[in-house]
Amino acid sequence: MRSYTLIAPAKINLYLEIIGDRPDGYHELVMILQSIDLADKISVRAISEQIIRVHCNHPQVPTDKTNLVYRAAELMTKQFPEAAAKHGGVEITLEKNIPVAAGLAGGSTNAAAVLVGIDLLWNLGLTQTEIEELGAILGSDIPFCVAGGTAIATGRGEQLAPLPSLDHIYIVLAKYRSLEVSTPWAYKTYRQEFGHTYLKNTEDLAARAAAVHSGEIVKAIVHKDATEIAQKLHNDLERVVLPAYSQVMQLRELFATQPGVLGTMMSGSGPSVFAIVESEAQAQAVKQYIRKAIPDEDLELFVTRTITHGIQIASSI
Ligand code: C5P
Repeated sequence: MRSYTLIAPAKINLYLEIIGDRPDGYHELVMILQSIDLADKISVRAISEQIIRVHCNHPQVPTDKTNLVYRAAELMTKQFPEAAAKHGGVEITLEKNIPVAAGLAGGSTNAAAVLVGIDLLWNLGLTQTEIEELGAILGSDIPFCVAGGTAIATGRGEQLAPLPSLDHIYIVLAKYRSLEVSTPWAYKTYRQEFGHTYLKNTEDLAARAAAVHSGEIVKAIVHKDATEIAQKLHNDLERVVLPAYSQVMQLRELFATQPGVLGTMMSGSGPSVFAIVESEAQAQAVKQYIRKAIPDEDLELFVTRTITHGIQIASSI
């Protein structure tokens, strides 16, 4: 039976601003999303039984219907019943390297890979936009994960405008293995505390998104100026996550004092924290320093870098 192996990179948020409420209960956001070379490997294989089967090497990752990859395969089966009947079921194998529940879109990028993989497996010939639209049904970050790179995301996070690619900016990433922050909790708490500041009408929301688009951090990205980008990092969700999670705050403070660190920020709803660093050598030095300062085996540390792509095909059989 045919199979495809795909590489699914994580993302970080260089910028996350919550600008309003939406009638669907979500938030209007303006984000700048960036792919990094920390990636999972996903294989998608056609099987003769008409079922969806998920395997994963990570004990924290469920292999049932609660896994986004299962729901991605189920969505494809529902959307393309004839192809599903013709090609049989799908077996998905996940090799996790991206920390889970981290604010790095690990689950979303896996689902994006499954959509791309099944499109290939079933010869559907979907366009990138069509795959992104299917992704948006399952989660706000999935459309970005398909093409990846650097992009402004507005609306729920699913409306994308590409920005010039940022390659080879070095990042140190830290995440406590056992620490998880619930994304719905983070947004709900933000609404309770800061909902009174939300913009109310469509024109104001569009104007705010446009202001970010022509603002300082986008200029820094256009100039590929890592120092300037690092100074303009922003994440509104830090306002609720940092006071509630002292370990995240501590990581943030420790990163900020390290030589070679140009800027530091929590990614998404956390709890991972990243630092933009001048060079790969300095990134390794920062990683070693943090390891010594916090000798806790629960703390995972990665040296990674920005990349210019999303889902890629590694091999096909
Ligand atoms: O879309 P996704 O399933 O990734 O979102 C997870 C949760 O994050 C949602 O259930 C919602 O509570 C919150 N969220 C939000 N506004 C967004 C995106 C996510 O409130 N634009």
